[in-house]
Amino acid sequence: MAIHILGNNIFVLETKNTHYVLGVDKYGYNRHIHWGKKCNINDYEAKDIWDENSNHTRLDMAKQEFTVFGGTMYRESDLKVQFPDNCREIDLLFVDAKAENNILTVTLKDKFYPLEIALKYRIRDNDDIISRWTEIKNTGNENITLDRAFSAELTLPSVKPYTIKNTNGSWGGEYVETESTLEGGALVFDSKRGTTGHNQSPYFIAYQNADEKQGDVYFGTLAYSGNFKVLCTRDLFYTTRVSIGLNDFDFKHILKSNETFVTPMVFCGYSQAGFGEMSRQMNRFAINHVLPKQFNDKVLPVLYNSWEATEFDVNCKHQTALAKLAAKMGVELFVMDDGWFGERNHDRAGLGDWFVNKKKFPKGIDELIKNVNKLGMDFGLWFEPEMVNPDSDLYRKHPDWAYHYNTREAHTLRHQLVLNMTRKDVQEYIFNCMDEMLTNHNIKYIKWDMNRPLSETGAENLDCPQELWLRHTQAVYNIVDRLKEKHPDVAIESCSSGGGRSDYGALLHFDQVWTSDNTDSVDRMTMQKWFTYLRPTKVMRAWVTDINWYNSPMSLDFRFNVAMQGSLGVGGNLTKYSREDLEVGKKNVALYKEIRHLVQFGDLYRILDAQKDEILFNLYVSEDKKEAVAFLASVHTSFMKKEIPLLFEGLDDNKVYTFNLNNRDYEKTGAYLKNVGIPVTIRGMGYNKIIKIKAK
Ligand code: DGJ
Repeated sequence: MAIHILGNNIFVLETKNTHYVLGVDKYGYNRHIHWGKKCNINDYEAKDIWDENSNHTRLDMAKQEFTVFGGTMYRESDLKVQFPDNCREIDLLFVDAKAENNILTVTLKDKFYPLEIALKYRIRDNDDIISRWTEIKNTGNENITLDRAFSAELTLPSVKPYTIKNTNGSWGGEYVETESTLEGGALVFDSKRGTTGHNQSPYFIAYQNADEKQGDVYFGTLAYSGNFKVLCTRDLFYTTRVSIGLNDFDFKHILKSNETFVTPMVFCGYSQAGFGEMSRQMNRFAINHVLPKQFNDKVLPVLYNSWEATEFDVNCKHQTALAKLAAKMGVELFVMDDGWFGERNHDRAGLGDWFVNKKKFPKGIDELIKNVNKLGMDFGLWFEPEMVNPDSDLYRKHPDWAYHYNTREAHTLRHQLVLNMTRKDVQEYIFNCMDEMLTNHNIKYIKWDMNRPLSETGAENLDCPQELWLRHTQAVYNIVDRLKEKHPDVAIESCSSGGGRSDYGALLHFDQVWTSDNTDSVDRMTMQKWFTYLRPTKVMRAWVTDINWYNSPMSLDFRFNVAMQGSLGVGGNLTKYSREDLEVGKKNVALYKEIRHLVQFGDLYRILDAQKDEILFNLYVSEDKKEAVAFLASVHTSFMKKEIPLLFEGLDDNKVYTFNLNNRDYEKTGAYLKNVGIPVTIRGMGYNKIIKIKAK
């Protein structure tokens, strides 16, 4: 791993297996040169290009690291500004390049105006992921208006079209994969909701002829939880580019004298071994370099969440009854969800009043917390900090604290309004309410929910109202960081009606995410696959619940099998479980505790696909390849009886592995398991197995 600054103004980022190369041409313009396999570094050059004719100009065809609006550049740009004299053109020239602490900084300056741009690239030992961001500085005395400020532009090497994966999900149907082959024009994936949302994702996965095991895959994801834009284009010169950053929809930022605007980061990478290797790279990267340090390397506890069992109807007696059964199953953390505060007897009231409801908890919440702690479990609590119900004391006292226009009727989605998080007093109120609960009670976990997008986004306190989108998201991160700083032993989960805020921005601040409100095990089989493409497995909370939408209900073992492929939770109404069901739960929780280090930290090989292959076969292998766990699950097979060889991947060819399957003890080399495999018979509905594998 090294950063090479060559004499001919060529800069090479050398990661474990790749070169990312940029440079400066003889005119002083920034140029993109290469991203992919390693070559001889002395061969790289910023080849001269010239105007092809009066319609297709040099600047217009140049592959650049950062394209700005202006001159004869007619493509999409990454930066658009307005200077005080109303000039909207930028002309950036190279100033210098420096490498420090594995960060390359390339500084560019406008020829005339006091605008300085720093392109930032960070590399690390042992992986091929590059962190990119851009810093935009006003070095003059007057304001400059930013109208678009993307984080990075990434140019893909092939002249042939790429197929690009993103998502077209919805509430309860997050992460649904889409693929489009981009032959010309543009593909845009974005959010305008104020959160990342459930629909499209702030990432791209671009490939040609790739699958789980082989092929070149380029990918990048934005670390930001608000309005984002991923803009993929293929031009007349067959160049495919991806610009990624803050959405320029209703965006403006007034860059004051001496101010530096820092864009969110993009984490991007290149896999030479298909989508599987892409996921494994990002999984390791997220654990080591993204997730907050308190819990990134700790196994996450098995949790119980009360939402599906009790909804708003929470009280000490019933929650304690659930807690007793959860503890018997082996659960380690009991989380009381919505309903514990204010007049929160339904979803029409109470949000904003973060004070324990005295009717539900006449002796205070400590009675329940003590019961939970006595049972050997930690206690966690739900909040929806960014929201207020019109029917709440907070709203009655501060109606102006919600985003609003006096001339517009506010949409109360789920009967609630969004608080103006750009206001200092609102931020302080939220922080103080949560801090008070954490300081005065033994709470070790917070679920931070967010159940509606923004609308009627009037914010009288802002000089530049379009800044609210970014400021809102920054305020969320800021409160989470402050809470964590003051209460370092408290883990925080990001939830937004399920997986509406499960992006890398959230993962820089929160410890885990609520994957989806859809807890149906059959749907989860595919959702979890898509989730793990770019996100770490460990943060993927998966509860076993009573929801069983498939025509023929899946057994409890089947539901555990699927949920144990993420961070296990239990969310059913345990008071209605039979003794046998509780035993099944206990057995599975105990098993999960034996294998969770592999699931949460291991390398995932998605070997067979639930939909395409009728059977899901996922293998999680430890880094040293001494241990693995395999999951098999099939909703139903087309034939009454089906025998297939299980061909393992990711094991060490030369190690001998032992395991028990269908009451037979096996002892086979990794090479045998990969090339010959173990035959299994998959029968009928809801087949499922978990195989613990150990090297001798
Ligand atoms: C939406 C979340 O996704 C659920 O898990 C639950 O917390 C509800 N909100 C509570 O209102």
